Amino acid sequence: MTESPHTEALEVDIAGVRFRNPVIGASGTFGYGLEFAELIDLNRLGGFCTKGLSARPLAGNPPPRIVETHGGMLNAIGLQNVGARSFVEDKLPLIRRYDTRIIANVFGYSDDDYLEAIRMLNDGEGISLYELNISCPNVKEGGIVIGNDERAAARLTEKAKRASTRPLIVKLSPNVADIASIARAIVQAGADALSLINTIVGMAVDINTRKPRLNYGTGGLSGPAIRPIAVRMVYEVAAAVTVPLLGIGGIADTSDALEFLIAGATAVQIGTANYYDPGVTMKVIDGLESYCRERSIDRITSLVGSLVVSGDRAG
Ligand SMILES: Cc1cc2nc3c(=O)[nH]c(=O)nc-3n(C[C@H](O)[C@H](O)[C@H](O)COP(=O)(O)O)c2cc1C
Repeated sequence: MTESPHTEALEVDIAGVRFRNPVIGASGTFGYGLEFAELIDLNRLGGFCTKGLSARPLAGNPPPRIVETHGGMLNAIGLQNVGARSFVEDKLPLIRRYDTRIIANVFGYSDDDYLEAIRMLNDGEGISLYELNISCPNVKEGGIVIGNDERAAARLTEKAKRASTRPLIVKLSPNVADIASIARAIVQAGADALSLINTIVGMAVDINTRKPRLNYGTGGLSGPAIRPIAVRMVYEVAAAVTVPLLGIGGIADTSDALEFLIAGATAVQIGTANYYDPGVTMKVIDGLESYCRERSIDRITSLVGSLVVSGDRAG
């Protein structure tokens, strides 16, 4: 593969970890990375987040677990995964062969559950960072229950940071009244970076049966429909904290990704778009390269938080 002269321009640093570019596959939409090995050049990807890993394997919720909506989808998968131990033993040795950053997304039903998963993952060679999922809306314990409560979120962050041998990203829930104050509490508790947003709680109704279309009842809305909300939240959190942010929510092309960078994200994660366009991450990397080249931007980091805000924002 020939390196274009602008390849270096895309490098970013998150909590001391260098990424060759700011394009990352989002948790739950990228499997364990291996699923994409035949579809894209994983060696070009900045990195990817694994499906949420728990101390024990989980089967997830019963179907139907996915519903399509305008500009997005609702899911209530419920953290189905092979378990942290099996990931370390069976998946990691295979995915480590690729030159891309591996972010292990961690989930638990209680603080102790999260810590147990982290300790198992600490044994895994090749993981660069952890992403703590305290924002999953599709489980009755853990997840969003912690992410929506400032004190619970800070308490878990502090414990997780102590247990981790790697930098810690905490993934924020958008289902809160004031995302900036939760972000502040989590950073004060020791988070090295924040990712946002997870899905927004939604619901779809079958008008014939008058039942929810998802077995779980409610689900998490993702895809282009949520992007303006996510960009606004990145902007608000960027003004509240100084740690790097990973922007997520409805990114489907280069200009979507740029919106997040300009609003204050150092990197972006792409989720739902991978389902209908498995090559989307590669296209966004190409697009960011062209954008930098055409505008003689030496470092993409110079765009981060470069939003020009003018006039009266009230009203
Ligand atoms: C089917 C599905 C499964 C997901 N599973 C996880 C997960 O295990 N852990 C997590 O932190 N986020 C999970 N997410 C949330 C995504 O990582 C992402 O935050 C969200 O979908 C918004 O981005 P998008 O609009 O690009 O999809 C999941 C999303 C979808 C659609």
